[in-house]
Amino acid sequence: MKTRLVFLGPPGAGKGTQAIVIAKKYHLARIATGDILRDAIGRGSALGLKAKEFMDRGDLVPDDVVNAILKDKIHNTPDGFIIDGYPRTIEQANFLQSAIEIQRVIYFDAPEEILVQRIVNRRVCPVCNAVYNKLENPPAVEGKCDLDGAELFHRTDDIEEVTRERIKTFWQKTAPLVDYYFHKGLLAKVSAERNVGEVTAEIEFAIQTE
Ligand code: AP5
Repeated sequence: MKTRLVFLGPPGAGKGTQAIVIAKKYHLARIATGDILRDAIGRGSALGLKAKEFMDRGDLVPDDVVNAILKDKIHNTPDGFIIDGYPRTIEQANFLQSAIEIQRVIYFDAPEEILVQRIVNRRVCPVCNAVYNKLENPPAVEGKCDLDGAELFHRTDDIEEVTRERIKTFWQKTAPLVDYYFHKGLLAKVSAERNVGEVTAEIEFAIQTE
């Protein structure tokens, strides 16, 4: 069983949704750089102020900033983990390799129109980071988290214009990592346009096989 995992894929592919399911089932820690950055923005910290301008326009936060976050989290995390949304550049991947050995990289593959539809309809819990979708996976009570009742929010970068920019950024800066990890023998591709349960099953197969 592989327990040091990276979830790689374009915005809206379902990385966060699956990271929550797999982390819970296999008792793994979840390190999500996007959540950490949004938390910093929410607290108005120096890190948040620096990150916000990049996130709001759909660009990547500079490598040195996210590498420092990753280093801190990895050092404070027990053995099994899922890193969700990192690395996103070759430089980040090289940094990660120098910090810790990864056992499997799950690549979430899905067409752009599905990604956009999922993102513009996404709603997130500010307390527990649970992810919902107005069409595919609505909460029991509209606008409220099923788990803690908090008011769900629509991420500021989830409007269509910024979403398309984020997808473009993925293809320019992050997609080269698919080849990078394929050549290291670490890559497993899943069909992320399938339903949540089917994608979970593909991931479980990928982390349980050699
Ligand atoms: P981040 O928060 O990581 O966003 P992202 O990578 O753009 O990914 P998303 O959160 O949009 O999508 P997801 O794949 O997790 O999908 P989800 O499961 O929510 O990063 C935000 C920003 O932070 C970046 O743009 C960048 O600026 C910065 N950043 C973060 N990390 C960085 C790094 N390493 N370097 C530099 N900058 C960094 O699902 C989406 C929706 O679809 C939900 O509504 C969900 O309910 C639904 N859904 C999920 N799976 C399915 C399914 N199988 N079928 C139907 N619906 C589904």
